[in-house]
Amino acid sequence: MNYAANGGKALSILDLMAMKQAGEKISCLTAYDASFTTLLDKVGIDVLLVGDSLGMVIQGHATTVPVSIEDMVYHSRCVTSARKRAFVIADLPFLSYVNETVAIENAAKLMQQGSAQMVKLEGARLEVIQFLVEQGIPVCGHLGLLPQSINQLGAYKVKGKRQQEADRIFAEAQKLEQVGASLLVLECVPAALAKKISESLKIPVIGIGAGVDCDGQVLVLYDMLGLESGKRPRFTKNFMDGADSIEAAIDNYHKAVKKALFPTTEHSY
Ligand code: KIV
Repeated sequence: MNYAANGGKALSILDLMAMKQAGEKISCLTAYDASFTTLLDKVGIDVLLVGDSLGMVIQGHATTVPVSIEDMVYHSRCVTSARKRAFVIADLPFLSYVNETVAIENAAKLMQQGSAQMVKLEGARLEVIQFLVEQGIPVCGHLGLLPQSINQLGAYKVKGKRQQEADRIFAEAQKLEQVGASLLVLECVPAALAKKISESLKIPVIGIGAGVDCDGQVLVLYDMLGLESGKRPRFTKNFMDGADSIEAAIDNYHKAVKKALFPTTEHSY
């Protein structure tokens, strides 16, 4: 759906639901500032995620753990001040949703000061999600690899390879939808599991390292522009290869997602 077809308004959750129902893939990239937001919007990326990955790609930390709610509000405001069409989701950072009281205070900051349309949080935090939804806050869940738990996990690895773990992730996805989550990000899970989850849920599922059968795809913007430092994760692709500008690279990503040409098996588990 383009901006004009949407009456010049920003996309809403209803538009994303309609895309899932129509079988139209949802394109999503992370965004942290106004300049890139303008470009992403111009290309027509459907969803901008103000991800706490900004702790790594903007702030230079080794993990997302040090990111504060103030950082997230600041970057959400940078993005929403420039956004015209895309739907904007902002991450609740590490320890900012330990219980309902803390979660509502921080989600309110992202929505009221940062103007985000939805907040995302990691893990099957069913009580917190249900509470936020009851207060009128739309929530995006995040299952599979949970980067905020890196100090417990020890390494960034695929989740759901073993049957027991796959069954748990599948059951958690069903519960997230039941308590009112509007969207789900699945990170680093086998493509077959992501397909099964996407087909079983009414809400859109956005994958990263989760195969081509999710309802949409997300990548960290700087990774898809080839700016990642160190070893490139299997699920990312440098769209600057063969592109003569940043805009062309983003457009190539957008089209590849829409046509289900990305990710290929080379970028999946
Ligand atoms: O913070 C982030 O960028 C994310 C994506 C990797 C899904 O959560």
